[in-house]
Amino acid sequence: MKILVIGAKGQLGHEIKKQSHLSDHEFVFADIQGDGESIIQLDMTDPQQVQQFVTADTDVVINCAAYNDVEKAETDEQTAMKVNAYAPGLLADAAKKADALLIHFSTDYVFDGKANTPYTEEDAPAPLSAYGRSKLAGEKAVQESGCRYMIFRTSWLYSLSGRNFFKTIADKCAGSPSIKVVMDQTGTPTNAEDLAYFIMHIIENDMLDKTGLYHYSNDGVASWFDFAAAINQELGYTCSVHPCRTSEFPTKAARPAYSVMDKRKVKETFGVEVPHWHDSLRVFVMGYLFFQSI
Ligand SMILES: NC(=O)c1ccc[n+]([C@@H]2O[C@H](COP(=O)([O-])OP(=O)(O)OC[C@H]3O[C@@H](n4cnc5c(N)ncnc54)[C@H](OP(=O)(O)O)[C@@H]3O)[C@@H](O)[C@H]2O)c1
Repeated sequence: MKILVIGAKGQLGHEIKKQSHLSDHEFVFADIQGDGESIIQLDMTDPQQVQQFVTADTDVVINCAAYNDVEKAETDEQTAMKVNAYAPGLLADAAKKADALLIHFSTDYVFDGKANTPYTEEDAPAPLSAYGRSKLAGEKAVQESGCRYMIFRTSWLYSLSGRNFFKTIADKCAGSPSIKVVMDQTGTPTNAEDLAYFIMHIIENDMLDKTGLYHYSNDGVASWFDFAAAINQELGYTCSVHPCRTSEFPTKAARPAYSVMDKRKVKETFGVEVPHWHDSLRVFVMGYLFFQSI
């Protein structure tokens, strides 16, 4: 199979690229900036470029690219919509034409956070932010295109590449005697390596006919405070991590107070176990410390 991965320089795309070396399929990697070697330049908001790269011989398009700056999206919703909704629509149309499967990613931020039990795929989205609205519009563009698709909503991604909450907290805890982290937003962290492994599992086990909308994060429940305290502890740092309320750190974008997602559908459909976020963090920290030491 020929598989096009867009957003190959991002957290998830990079993890898929690493794991694809074990596959016999042909992978083509793209991002808005190529690297002159293994990643080609492709702006997915440009219809001509999408036509050029999603060709009749493409079997799967994996779209890991997105506009993920939740704060900036509040003042630049137009760009967020272009990247997170218009471009997935272009990819979906091109995938339909090529009879390819589109694997696309969305977010827990499509929910308003008023629930107190995990959100299922049937629960009604009601985004609180421009970012959430743009990602929901992207889901709809893919769903309404008539292409074969899998959409995976994920949450709180972290990895060794790019900026993310793990790295921010690791840096802060290394340099400060104490930090404050919000405890009134609850969700689930997701190690991008686990999500990439799951996507490769679908490809390698020929499960591409199981189309639809799914939730995939790590298992378990955490507040940002829980996640930060665990990062500090696993890294062996002595920083004091204190809980605080969201109101102490006002932001432009409203975030859901509760965005835990129910993973039963993904587990039952694909026969996978989903690692608990703390177990996954522990494994991740070992790799992080190893790379810090070399
Ligand atoms: N990060 C999270 O916590 C999180 C949470 C929930 C859901 N998600 C979703 O999960 C997926 C993967 O996220 P991620 O964290 O791996 O993303 P990421 O690290 O932000 O990577 C996205 C990549 O896409 C590239 N890109 C942006 N615009 C593009 C365009 N027009 N054409 C081609 N490439 C473009 C970016 O380049 P530049 O960096 O140069 O812009 C970047 O390399 C996304 O759909 C995201 O919305 C992420």
